[in-house]
Amino acid sequence: MRRARALVASARRIVVLTGAGVSAESGVPTFRGQGGLWKSFRPEELATPSAFARDPRLVWEWYAWRRGLVAECAPNPAHLALARLALSGPTPTTLVTQNVDGLHHRAARDVAGEGGDPSAAFPLEVHGAIHRDRCSGCGALSEAATEVDVASVRTLPRCSVCSALLRPDVVWFGEVLDPDVIGAAFHAAREADLCLVVGTSALVHPAASVPDATARSGGSVIEVNLEPTPLTGRAAVTLLGEAGSLVPALLA
Ligand code: OAD
Repeated sequence: MRRARALVASARRIVVLTGAGVSAESGVPTFRGQGGLWKSFRPEELATPSAFARDPRLVWEWYAWRRGLVAECAPNPAHLALARLALSGPTPTTLVTQNVDGLHHRAARDVAGEGGDPSAAFPLEVHGAIHRDRCSGCGALSEAATEVDVASVRTLPRCSVCSALLRPDVVWFGEVLDPDVIGAAFHAAREADLCLVVGTSALVHPAASVPDATARSGGSVIEVNLEPTPLTGRAAVTLLGEAGSLVPALLA
């Protein structure tokens, strides 16, 4: 922890990459490991374009369940500490998240308070956002305002512009990431001299390569995770434990 704190204190520009582990203590299930979503659900049936083409009702049922679950959760001390770092820390910081749960946004609003501007702590959401809809036909984006009626295909939400089915604005297996968003993440990583990686198995690329961009530019990597990952060998410091206590302690 002492070495990690020294790296934070001396950094001139920080990029933070988070994964499902940062939201685990908020009650959002991770994907891999104990209790992970991919232990109980098959991604190819729920999170691919062909699954949506085959059975959009089933896919929407799963996302409506996850939306409901996330709505019950609140940001935890790790989200709040990262929002404080980005909003009022001494070092320019860019947050990048693989999470679609919106908890970094909520933490940013909580920390900024009424009348404050939370936008500097809004993360680049490289895998999309579960609370946004995208038209499967014309691509128009819309905030998911109402509850989705998953009774049948006919009751699923449709685009107000072209009437095609709406889908959650998340990245599915086999889809490419938004080049502007992932490009901005890699740019921030190259510019940073410290990459703080919190709660990701570091298995899913290209997001998992973000810390390498900082390292290739001569910067350092700090990892916070319950267990070692493929990134651990390349990190200057790995803090093993829960993000909800380690991240606030690191950034205090
Ligand atoms: P994973 O579920 O693969 O990994 C979660 C990581 O968080 C694991 O390494 C855990 O050890 C760690 N972890 C769990 N609880 C923690 C805690 N309280 N504190 C610290 N660490 C903790 O999630 P991601 O790496 O985010 O993609 O998964 C990457 C992508 O795979 C996701 O964005 C999703 C998934 O398929 C898409 O949906 C496109």
